[in-house]
Amino acid sequence: MKIIIGSDHGGFRLKSFLVHALTLKGHDVEDLGTNSGEHSVDYPDFAAAVAHKVMADSTAVGIVICGTGIGASIAANKVVGIRCALVHDGYTARMAKEHNNANVLALGGRTTAEEVALDCVVSWLNATYQGGRHQPRLDKIAALECPLGSAGK
Ligand code: RB5
Repeated sequence: MKIIIGSDHGGFRLKSFLVHALTLKGHDVEDLGTNSGEHSVDYPDFAAAVAHKVMADSTAVGIVICGTGIGASIAANKVVGIRCALVHDGYTARMAKEHNNANVLALGGRTTAEEVALDCVVSWLNATYQGGRHQPRLDKIAALECPLGSAGK
């Protein structure tokens, strides 16, 4: 699986851990930075870079990390087509795929332990979107991105 990952300084340590762990598991991981936990940077820049790359590559999914995961998830969800879920355990991560077909996962570098974060990512990657009753709900989310397109007809 191609995984695009990015973080701010608050997520740098967790990102470094996940890049290593996911690469060891055989995933193709592309790290868009940041490259230090020492220098303060702005999480929207890295969340946007991940989100745009995910939208440009149908084979890729994304992971965004900031201190809490909150800012990074908000930013990623501003990119049309992104369904970014902030998760804190394996269950919410699995649900993010099964019910919401999340194509980007958000994690908190200051809130989530390394092994829990890895369990989140693995649970999400191993899950399958269930479709069915969930699809009309995702269609309604997509319509929110283009209100004139849906309401104008
Ligand atoms: C940076 O200090 C911090 O605000 C950021 O990493 C994130 O937690 C924002 O949501």
